[in-house]
Amino acid sequence: MLPIDPSKKLSFRRCISDGDLVIVYERHDTMKAVKVSESSTLQNRFGVFKHSDWIGKPFGSKVFSSKGGFVYLLAPTPELWTLVLSHRTQILYIADISFVVMYLEIVPGCLVLESGTGSGSLTTSLARAVAPTGHVYTFDFHEQRAVSAREDFDRTGLNSLVTVGVRDIQGEGFPDDFTGVVDSVFLDLPQPWLAIPSAGKMLKQDGVLCSFSPCIEQVQRSSETLGSHFTDIRTFEVLLRTYEVREGKMESCQGDEGSSFGSSSFGSLPCKRRQTSNEGSNWQENPSSPMIIARPSVEARGHTGYLTFARLKCAA
Ligand SMILES: C[S@@+](CC[C@H](N)C(=O)[O-])C[C@H]1O[C@@H](n2cnc3c(N)ncnc32)[C@H](O)[C@@H]1O
Repeated sequence: MLPIDPSKKLSFRRCISDGDLVIVYERHDTMKAVKVSESSTLQNRFGVFKHSDWIGKPFGSKVFSSKGGFVYLLAPTPELWTLVLSHRTQILYIADISFVVMYLEIVPGCLVLESGTGSGSLTTSLARAVAPTGHVYTFDFHEQRAVSAREDFDRTGLNSLVTVGVRDIQGEGFPDDFTGVVDSVFLDLPQPWLAIPSAGKMLKQDGVLCSFSPCIEQVQRSSETLGSHFTDIRTFEVLLRTYEVREGKMESCQGDEGSSFGSSSFGSLPCKRRQTSNEGSNWQENPSSPMIIARPSVEARGHTGYLTFARLKCAA
C-alpha cells in the first residue's frame, strides 16, 4: 500500500510487482483488491486477464483481457481500501476519516492510540498519516477481529506502522506503557465515556481525543465525562454529497442562468449545465444534443455518526 524503502521514504511512483496488492477498477462502484501472482488470471465479465501482463506496468495502467475488455489497476490507497475491505463491523468512511485525521492533527511521526479496531478502515488511514516514522496502536477486545485486522495490515503492507492488541479498553483502559506519550486517541466504542479517563492519561500535554458515536445520547454522556479533564469540546456530523457528472441529454430546462431544473436522461432531479465560453446557442437550438450534466448522486450516504473532539487541559 505504502512502499517504504530502507531510507524511510514513502513512494507512490512504483511499478506493479509480483506479490503486490492492486485494486482492479471497473467503475467507481465495482472494484476489488487482488494480489498479483505471475501464474494467475483474473476472470470477470470483460474476459480473462493474465496477471503476468500486469507486472512491470505503473499503477493506474489500463490493461486488456484476451477478448479486448479492460480494467484499470490502481494502487491500494487507504481511500480505495476503505471501499473494498471486508466488512466485519460498521466502518468509518472517507468523509469522517479525513475529518478525523485533520482534527486529530495527525502527521508523520505521531503516536496514535485507537479502539476498537473493527475492520481497520480508519486504522489504514491513520497508518498512512503517521508514516514513515510514527505508529498506530489499535485495540479490539474481539480476538478474531484482531487476527483479521493483522492479516489485512500484512496484505496492505502496513504491518510495520500498526500494532493490533486484544484488550477490553472500556474495562481495563489503555496499557500504562503509553502514559503521557501519545499524540492523539481515537475511540469508536459503544460506551466511550468508560475509556475517556484512561485516554486522558495516555495523551501528551495538549493532545487531542476523538470519539465517534452513532447516537447523540452517547455524545451527551461522553461530553459530560470529557468536561473534567478536557477543553475545546466540539461535536460534528459530517455529511457528504457526491455528484454524478457525465454526458447526457437534457429534454427540458427552466430556471436561472446556468442552472436548470427539468427532466434529463438522468431522470428528473436538478441538473446543472456545463458553462463554456461559447455555450448557449447550441443547446438552446438543439436541446436533445449531448451535454455534460451534473446532479447529486441518488445513493448519497446520510448520517454515519457524530465526531466529538476534545483537547487535554493543561495540568498547571
Ligand atoms: C464499529 S467497530 C470499529 C470500526 C472501525 N472504526 C473501522 O473504521 O473499521 C467497533 C469495534 O469496537 C470493538 N469493541 C467494542 N467494545 C470494546 C471494548 N470494550 N474494548 C475494545 N474493543 C471493543 C468491537 O469489537 C468492534 O470491533
